[in-house]
Amino acid sequence: MSKTQVIIVGGGPSGLMLSQSLHRHGVDSVVLERQTRDYVAARIRAGLLEWGTVELLKEAGVGERMIREGLVHTGFELAFDGRRHRVDLEGLAGKSVLVYGQTEIQKDLAEAVGARAIWEAKEVAILDSEGKSARVAYTKEGVRHEIQAEFIVGCDGYHGVSRASVPKDRIVEHERIYPSGWLGILANVPPVSDELVYANHARGFALCSMRSKTRSRYYVQCPIDDTLADWPDERVWDELRLRLPPELAANVVSGPSLEKSIAPLRSFVAEPMRFGRLFLVGDAAHIVPPTGAKGLNLAAADVRVLYRGLVEYFRTGSTTLLDEYSTRALARVWKATRFSWWFTSLTHKFTDDAFAYKLQLAELTYLAQSQAASQVMAENYVGLPFDA
Ligand code: FAD
Ligand code: PHB
Repeated sequence: MSKTQVIIVGGGPSGLMLSQSLHRHGVDSVVLERQTRDYVAARIRAGLLEWGTVELLKEAGVGERMIREGLVHTGFELAFDGRRHRVDLEGLAGKSVLVYGQTEIQKDLAEAVGARAIWEAKEVAILDSEGKSARVAYTKEGVRHEIQAEFIVGCDGYHGVSRASVPKDRIVEHERIYPSGWLGILANVPPVSDELVYANHARGFALCSMRSKTRSRYYVQCPIDDTLADWPDERVWDELRLRLPPELAANVVSGPSLEKSIAPLRSFVAEPMRFGRLFLVGDAAHIVPPTGAKGLNLAAADVRVLYRGLVEYFRTGSTTLLDEYSTRALARVWKATRFSWWFTSLTHKFTDDAFAYKLQLAELTYLAQSQAASQVMAENYVGLPFDA
């Protein structure tokens, strides 16, 4: 049986970020990821980083390409009822955000983590997380292995094995499922605007995002039961144009899709985030709907709190920070859960009820007129302080 200090299950952004942050502070870890390195790097997901996430990646020594190639955004736009309102993030909250794709973060991290990650580790099983040490088994190329460590960290996403291994009577799960999905399209075409645009429209929500000045990422809200067969490229482009104010619609350049996918909208929080020697991080513990781009940023915030606790423990033997992990992480998780739910409710069409639509428009108009309301939005969008 091999030994390490921390076993990390899952080699997505949170698992690799944690391994890399620990390594920079002299703590050993092994990452077990069931997919191949290329498969994980090709998944098109997040695109917008809070500055706290940028700082964490820089501290972990993987910020160089991100700072060179990422696009700094000092604001974004809300479009509704034929009008547009810019939220000045820099002016209202004193911070910007960075456009840099999760695919790129994943590549940068995988390169840095190197041989600490075991790709295609199958049948990962948590054998012990309550005894004198922690033990995990996995199979690689048909051969079974066991690893022993002080701690296990579940960074294995919503469908992972870590949270599933916790006895039901020790965990409370809060969930809200929304009756829509996001259809995403990625194409090598210039974005409609220099900044992101979130559009509330009577036909449903749309988002104009980007990965670079030549690569656009667009989303349109769609019924939850739709499949990609319902959405040939032309229909996506047509629907996007219909949901944008005319001057933006005129700027939409269409092109063949590089990727197209449908993502469900879900809010989910599992409490607590620690069970003996097992910690949960990122999507393994919580999911937010993507409106407002909090998912990856919350995962990074969890990593920040946990790696400091682990480093303190291995340096001094003190468990103070580790004991606070679940409470501190959840305080921030619930605030981001609230923000993502609110921003989703403000911009999506979930019923045919005209009353609900009128309320959305009233709130959006208020936001456009009130500096105080815009500031609340901006503060949450750029990311709340870590200790709040
Ligand atoms: P994951 O990325 O899910 O990684 C978990 C890893 O664990 C995977 O690689 C998986 O293969 C592996 N795994 C699972 N089970 C096992 C097992 N049994 N054994 C071994 N390995 C296992 N967030 C933002 O902050 N900003 C955005 O702009 C944004 N946009 C998004 C857009 C879309 C369309 C979607 C779907 C999500 C978006 N998100 C965004 C959310 C963000 O992508 C996730 O929150 C983020 O990927 C979470 O990282 P993670 O490492 O915790 O989990
Ligand atoms: C993205 O570019 O994928 C993205 C950007 C902002 C969001 C959600 C997704 O709020």
